Amino acid sequence: MKLKLIELIICFSLTPTCSAVLPLVINTWPFKDATTTAWSTLCSGGSALDAVEAGCAQCEKLQCDGSVGYGGSPDETGETTLDAMIMNGDTMEVGAVGQLRRIKNAIGVARAVMERTKHTFLVGESASVFAENMGFLAEDLTTNQSLSIFTKWLKENCQPNYRQHVSPDPSTSCGPYKPQAMFQRRRRGQLIDIHAHDTIGMIVINQAGQVAAGTSTNGARHKVPGRVGDSPIAGAGAYADSTVGGAAATGDGDIMMRFLPSYLAVEQMRAGVDPSAACRTAITRIKKHFPDFFGAVVCANMTGSYGAACNKRPGFSQFPFMVFNRKSNVPRQEMVDCI
Ligand SMILES: *[C@@H]1O[C@H](CO)[C@@H](O)[C@H](O)[C@H]1NC(C)=O
Ligand SMILES: *[C@@H]1O[C@H](CO)[C@@H](O)[C@H](O)[C@H]1NC(C)=O
Repeated sequence: MKLKLIELIICFSLTPTCSAVLPLVINTWPFKDATTTAWSTLCSGGSALDAVEAGCAQCEKLQCDGSVGYGGSPDETGETTLDAMIMNGDTMEVGAVGQLRRIKNAIGVARAVMERTKHTFLVGESASVFAENMGFLAEDLTTNQSLSIFTKWLKENCQPNYRQHVSPDPSTSCGPYKPQAMFQRRRRGQLIDIHAHDTIGMIVINQAGQVAAGTSTNGARHKVPGRVGDSPIAGAGAYADSTVGGAAATGDGDIMMRFLPSYLAVEQMRAGVDPSAACRTAITRIKKHFPDFFGAVVCANMTGSYGAACNKRPGFSQFPFMVFNRKSNVPRQEMVDCI
């Protein structure tokens, strides 16, 4: 969606007394249309939650990088499933879905979980039935693109994969699965595929200081069916607290979810640490245990300062993210050097 100039002008003229730095939209990766959509949602009177939902939903529609939305990251059976969450930093409510099937608008379902149930997290087939009951359209998430990724993987004897033991799986025609070591060797060569791990993670702080954060992803390519990553886990994929700020993460979710990097970054900011340093602390904590992990975190505080950090590894020395605020006037891509 293109940002309409008129919306920008309205946004500016309606809020002449605001601080110079809020509102703020920040998201992982150069997913510019998501940033723009979130900003124009704020400008047309939407809440921070509305902006996060609309921004991430835009990526779901556009299949950002093939790693968000339908038609990407087929699992071992060829199916695309989605993970998403949304968090309200005013009320500390969270809605999340994991391994969502058939529904393209995962973050919309996450919001429905938050607002239309007393639960926080629904998964799998039951989450999809819930979504259908809520009126979300059931569609096939498989596309020619995801089918061709899957077919190629089958032809290559299901390599790479996430198994650690040779274990022929009778439920698929593939295999035998090879140990994880083989996957890692391939990845240490030139085959590092960061697009197997991208996620949109977004933080929005509106004029009134409401923080919302959210994520959406189709998970890890060739994942074991049932696998849920960090993205829909509160404190891992994203976290928001309107007294402090917000954080969102992307990368190797299987590792990152063990460290709650978004929660850690927000707690750092609560203790007075600036956003860049808070993000670095979250990365450093993981790095201590998994020096080669792939991941990045974005952070923002209540005065509209923001930062990011990423773990340096071969082929990944800088992390791009998007920012939209009064200073930028346009969705601006920034880069941070990895540590
Ligand atoms: C998908 O592939 C089928 C069969 O090869 C083809 O007929 C169809 O047009 C393709 N669809 C798209 C959207 O490319
Ligand atoms: C946000 O971070 C900036 C940069 O470190 C700092 O100057 C500012 O005081 C912080 N704001 C809050 C509310 O902590």
